[in-house]
Parts: sequence; C-alpha cells; structure tokens
Amino acid sequence: MCGIVAYVGHRQAYPLLIKGLKRLEYRGYDSAGVALLNADGLKVFKKKGKVAELENELKAREPLATIGMGHTRWATHGEPNDKNAHPHYSSNSKLAIIHNGIIENFATIKKNLQKKGYEFRSDTDSEVLIQFIEDIQKETGATLEETVRLALHEVVGAYAIVIMTEDDPTQLIAARKGSPLVIGIGEEEFFFASDATPIIEYTKEVVYLDDLQIAVVRNGELTLQNLDKTTQIPYIQKVEMELEAIEKGGYEHFMLKEIFEQPRSIADSMRGRLNAEDALLELGGLRGYMDKLADAKRIVIVGCGTSWHAGLVAEYIFEELARIPVEVEYASEFRYRNPIIKEKDIVIAISQSGETADTLAALELAKSKGATILGVCNVVGSSIARITHAGAYTHAGPEIGVASTKAFTAQVTVLTLMAIAVAKKRKTISEDLYRQLLIEIDTIPAKVERVLKASEKIKEIAYIFTYARNFIYLGRGLNFPVALEGALKLKEISYIHAEGYPAAEMKHGPIALIDEDMPVVVVATKDSSYDKVVSNIQEVKARKGRVIAVVTEGEKQLHELVDFVIEIPKTHEILVPLLSSIPLQLLAYYIAVMRGRNVDQPRNLAKSVTVE
Ligand code: G6P
Repeated sequence: MCGIVAYVGHRQAYPLLIKGLKRLEYRGYDSAGVALLNADGLKVFKKKGKVAELENELKAREPLATIGMGHTRWATHGEPNDKNAHPHYSSNSKLAIIHNGIIENFATIKKNLQKKGYEFRSDTDSEVLIQFIEDIQKETGATLEETVRLALHEVVGAYAIVIMTEDDPTQLIAARKGSPLVIGIGEEEFFFASDATPIIEYTKEVVYLDDLQIAVVRNGELTLQNLDKTTQIPYIQKVEMELEAIEKGGYEHFMLKEIFEQPRSIADSMRGRLNAEDALLELGGLRGYMDKLADAKRIVIVGCGTSWHAGLVAEYIFEELARIPVEVEYASEFRYRNPIIKEKDIVIAISQSGETADTLAALELAKSKGATILGVCNVVGSSIARITHAGAYTHAGPEIGVASTKAFTAQVTVLTLMAIAVAKKRKTISEDLYRQLLIEIDTIPAKVERVLKASEKIKEIAYIFTYARNFIYLGRGLNFPVALEGALKLKEISYIHAEGYPAAEMKHGPIALIDEDMPVVVVATKDSSYDKVVSNIQEVKARKGRVIAVVTEGEKQLHELVDFVIEIPKTHEILVPLLSSIPLQLLAYYIAVMRGRNVDQPRNLAKSVTVE
C-alpha cells in the first residue's frame, strides 16, 4: 500500500504531484507529503490526513520546483501523524525518500545507526533506510546510486522507493522489490508512480520496473540496472488507459460509478473472447494452457478479500461444469502452511490489483513447487500478471473505490468463461448446455442493467436500515459466496458489523442472534436450493428477524413472507452471482452514504495491500 509519485522535467512539480497523489489515494490515506527541490534547497512538507489537507496547508505558498516527489500513506510502522508521514529526510537533510513497502530488518539497522549517533525523527522503517543510505555515503564516499545499491543489498523486505538529493536537481533514483513502480517517459521529463494513473495525461509511454532493478534519471536520461549492476534496456510499453476511466464522470462516488459501470465492464471482460451466436469461446491469454487446465487433477485458487469470494464462486462453477476438484484458499494461509502441490495441480491467483503481497507470495511458493500458475488480474502489467505462466485479464477498467465491485463481477465472468471452456474441452457438459450457457452469459450485461434499475428501491430499504448495528447475510450454493461478499461490502464501507453464512448453517449458531433488531439479507433466487432457503427464511421470521430477500423476478411466495423484496432477472443458475451480488453492493453503498461514511476511502483500508 502507500502511493508514491515523483517528477523531474520542465513542469511545475507541486500541482502535478498533488493531482497524482489524489489518484493514488486509494492505496492509503493516513497522511500525505511532498519533497521539492529548488534554489532554496530540498524542502519537505507533510501532514496527517488526506492529500486535500496537505493541499490546504500549502495553498498560500505553492512551492515552485521542477523536481519533486510525493507520498500518500497507509501506516505500517508508526501511527499516522505528521512526523511519520513521508517523505523522510536523512540526518543532514540532504537526502529524502518516499517508500511503499516494509523494511523487515529495520530494527537491526536502526540499532546500529543509533550506536553511531544517528537520531530519528519518526518511528518509520523508511526513515531508517534513508539514514542508512546517508551513513553508507559518508563511510564509502560512493555515488548516491552506488550507495543506494549497497544499502538495498542489506535490506530484507519489500519496497518501491524514490530518493532525491539536494546535490543534484536533475536526479531521481528509484528501486523496487515486491511493490509496484511505473516510470513514465515524456518529452524531456520523467515520472515515477505506483501505478500509471498519475502519468497518463502527460505520456502513455511507460516502463514497468522489475523487482531488484534500480532506475536513475540524471540530466534528462534514464538508466536501468539490476541490483547486481547489469545494465537493462528499458522496455517501453504503451498504456491503454484513458483519463475518463479514472474520473468520477458525474457520480457522487467512484464506488457508485463502478457499480453502474458493470453492464459495460462485464461485457468488456468477455469482449473478443465470446461469440455466442457461433458458439465460440476462447481466452487468448490461456492459449497453450488449455490442455493443462483440462488435464488438471486439482485446481487451487488463491486470493484475498473480495477476490477470494470470486474464487469461492468459481469453485462451485468449475466443479459443477468441469468436474475438477477445486480448493479455494486465503493466500495468506496457503503460503505459510507448507501446502501439498502435486504435478498436474493448477494454481490460479485472483487479484484485482495484481499486487497483493500474500497472493503474490502464494504464487511464488506454488511456482517453486513446480505448479502451473495462472492469474486472473485486472491491472495490466501488474506483478501477478507478470510472474504467472499465463492468465486472463478481467478488463474491468481501473477500479478506484476501495471496496471492490466491478472487479468482482469481472472476475466471476472470466472464471465462468474459463470453466465453460474447460468443461467443453473435457466433454463434461453437453454441446447443448455449452451453447445455452454462452447465449445466456451474453445476456448478462443487459440483465445487470435491469438490476440497476432497482437502485431507488434499494435506497429506500437502505434508509430504513441506516442505523442497524448488525446484519446477517445468508445464501446457499453459488449464493453463499455472494452472501459473504455482501456482508464484506457492508462492513467495509458502513462499519456495521455484518456476517455472511451459508443459510443452512445459521441454525448452528447465528440463529441465536436473531430478534426484531436483526436485519437478515437472504439471497433466495429461484434455483436448486430455493425451497431450502425458503425454509431458512421461515426460521428467521419465526424469531421476528427482518428479512430483505433478493429474489428472481416473477416469484410470488416470498413477497408474502419477507419484509422487503429486491428482484433480479432470471438466468441460468451458474450465472446468478453476476446478478445477485449487485443489489448487495447498492445496499451497502446507500447505507454507508446515509451514515455519512467516506465510501471510496473507508477507514483503515487500502485498495492494494502490498504488505503481509
Ligand atoms: C484489499 C482491498 C479489497 C480486495 C483485497 C484483495 O483488502 O481493500 O477490496 O478485495 O485487497 O485485493 P486484490 O487486488 O488482490 O484483488
């Protein structure tokens, strides 16, 4: 987490950095800061709170400089306050650093520096690194670039860093290991950032820094070297992203925009892959791996948060259609429990950002044990996309709201397409069902459009439950992960305690919580478990729980039984999560807005979790 951005060139750096930091704020928003270098020297300005607060503070004295860097923080070491905000100076205040990641051995390095008399102005691991660099510089007299290299050789942990020095107003030094860093290459100007969003209005030409690479811009030239000093030729790529994709476009929040974008993002995730009319389905990124997938003895899916929920949906679909056993694991658990990986196991990582530290580490572990690793990522060029053998992008477009919405439905769509393709190859579904599924999935964007029409009704329901203290979400089969995801959405952005459960499991515990003050959201679509879910609803009603049910259009029975009904169009059972998850996103959104929460940047969270 943490967002970093830096610039050197002919423009005024300060406004560019502030704009860039606002775009990166999804990565953390505990504090923000900038460092700028001009004739007055290297100056750092930083403040607890959001980027706007820093901007406010500096309004009267917008610093002028054509080189600078900025940081927006998600606290790991040291509480979020002014002194722990980045950038951090070295002791002589001639060097400054911004850092995203964690220096795991910072305590040992700090102790050694303290013995030498170094004093620290913050509690962060990042300040330790810049002090360490200053110390090596003093001891060796080496160039800054060499010093950085020497320091990084000693560092254990993850980092994306940018360093500035008062001694050279043309120089920025950046390096990465584990945390993302993109370099934008303009006309006699260079940009560094955690992702391409602060860069794209100036240049579309970017270089993705690899792990253990150091990039140096000096006197208008970029050089790239590995930590071991071998020179690398920068591989310049074009980013496809357009500016409008990262702006709110008239919506009050990014989250609402992203919820309403789903008809398009789901369609985009199928574009070029599906031709329902001619019964053609091909995921280009998996070409060459379809035989392996079809031959798999087991599929292990790893992910975190919402992506893990998409994995649970995929488990049902893969097992149902392709008859391959699937296990879904929290990446953070998988990586530390010496998992058994066998030949012919396929490990699929699901990750919107493609940067989640635990997911990345889980994949690396699986790869080291000889598994074929595949990725389902949204961010093109992300670390997971690059280390996997093959994969399928979700193409949902940039997702900025911290709570994932359109990325989830795009993940489920892509995983469903994968399952259908594998099932066809394995001949575990009939030609008829294959065609029927393709035709039906093709209609999903239009059906999502219809679900979104219920937004006003959902808003009214949200109003009634604005001040609820708890929520339970229930579902069975494919709607069980949907219930989990609905509960996660609500707690993430409204801070209401919410739990998702398989509906039948309710009677083994959560039923004790049910009374007239307990709202229960039940996903009760007309599918194979419908009758059972109706019985579970009866159990809730018998205990005076208030039920909000997501039902299939045209169904009658539940209208009588429950307190509130939200209808979604009929579709094939396999595809229901693509529709049933959407009312739950809207319900969470409206409740959070009514409670006055910061929906796009909920407290304590960050969109991209690049630390363990
Ligand atoms: C964070 C985000 C979640 C997201 C999870 C996994 O916790 O706040 O919304 O689901 O990370 O992220 P990924 O990028 O790997 O999907």
